[in-house]
Amino acid sequence: ANPSILILAGDGIGPEVMAEVKKIIGWFGTKRGVTFDVTEDLVGGCAYDAHGTPLTDATMAKAQEVDAVLLGAVGGPKYDVLDFSVKPERGLLRLRKEMDLFSNLRPAQCFDALADFSSLKKDVVAGLDIVIVRELTSGVYFGEPRGIFTEGNERVGINTQRYTESEIARVARSAFELARRRNNKVCSMEKANVMESGILWRQVVQEVHDKEYADVELTHMYADAGAMQLCRWPKQFDVIVTDNLFGDLLSDMAAMLTGSLGMLPSASLGLPMENGRPKALYEPVHGSAPDIAGQGKANPIACVLSFAMALRYSFDMGDEAARVEKAVEKVLADGVRTADLMGPEGGVPVSTSQMGDAIIAALDAS
Ligand code: NAI
Ligand code: MG
Repeated sequence: ANPSILILAGDGIGPEVMAEVKKIIGWFGTKRGVTFDVTEDLVGGCAYDAHGTPLTDATMAKAQEVDAVLLGAVGGPKYDVLDFSVKPERGLLRLRKEMDLFSNLRPAQCFDALADFSSLKKDVVAGLDIVIVRELTSGVYFGEPRGIFTEGNERVGINTQRYTESEIARVARSAFELARRRNNKVCSMEKANVMESGILWRQVVQEVHDKEYADVELTHMYADAGAMQLCRWPKQFDVIVTDNLFGDLLSDMAAMLTGSLGMLPSASLGLPMENGRPKALYEPVHGSAPDIAGQGKANPIACVLSFAMALRYSFDMGDEAARVEKAVEKVLADGVRTADLMGPEGGVPVSTSQMGDAIIAALDAS
């Protein structure tokens, strides 16, 4: 059977950037003889408009069956007034929860042509290529007890950082597997100096390493020191594995080492399905960008690079993934820029679809 993909383009610029990915999927069919079975469906505000819910049960069921889900973005001002239970984000949260996507891969990669864009010195970021693996389904955002309670004569806000051994072990494995496909190097970050969950995190990651991944180089770092090191010399890292809260902060920070939100892909992986592929959802880090939606200004590269991650992690097509990434690198080196990538020197930006066409042309030339 052909590999299967469910496209959920969503709201705002989601469908605009996804249109460029669809061109690339088409290119693989006609030029490389690699055909994907693609179905499209609704998520987020558009699903609410059509069905009164941001994700129908039927769409949820489809997402569970396919080899990979590609998501654009959800949300927009039109939906801000909705009840929390039907907010667009709830569609995305439901996908993550029911697919049990516990491992969130956030690459921070610096294309040489954009190194001047970083807030850091060029030599600190040029050629940077690291991945932060963030635990996504547990930890302090979910632990019980949680809530705002009354204690004596004042209120107290409570969240609980809670990790079970198996939750730590599975995300550790995911990071070690990733490291084996890359440079065999993992740095685990927590706060074992002040947190019990951090002590357990460090122990379990070390145990999984010693039993199953002794070939991978493993180091441990306190997350606050890790944040400093990420700014100081990010190239010392390759794969970083960390919990939900620290991963949220560190991945956003690492991402900004490299420039625009319009460039950042992500993958969220779960346990393997029957065919051995992990459940997987790929999406750009950015949102639906209502301020530029419908104007042809969106940068499709984050979404394109998310598709490249799907090629690599869901379809074992590492060479084809690299081909897409090289094509992106080439158009950037040629000076093709959407508006978000224009430096102070200015120039004429290309549209979303012109950027997509330039990537296709670079693929043709590859
Ligand atoms: P945003 O990521 O949509 O936009 C932030 C800024 O970056 C905006 O100025 C936007 O124009 C720009 N930007 C984002 N993506 C871009 C691209 N591909 N090319 C060029 N410029 C780009 O975040 P914001 O404004 O906080 O949220 C807007 C809506 O998106 C909200 O409804 C929010 O809830 C939703 N959202 C959805 C996410 C998702 O679907 N995973 C993630 C983040 C926000
Ligand atoms: Mg965040």
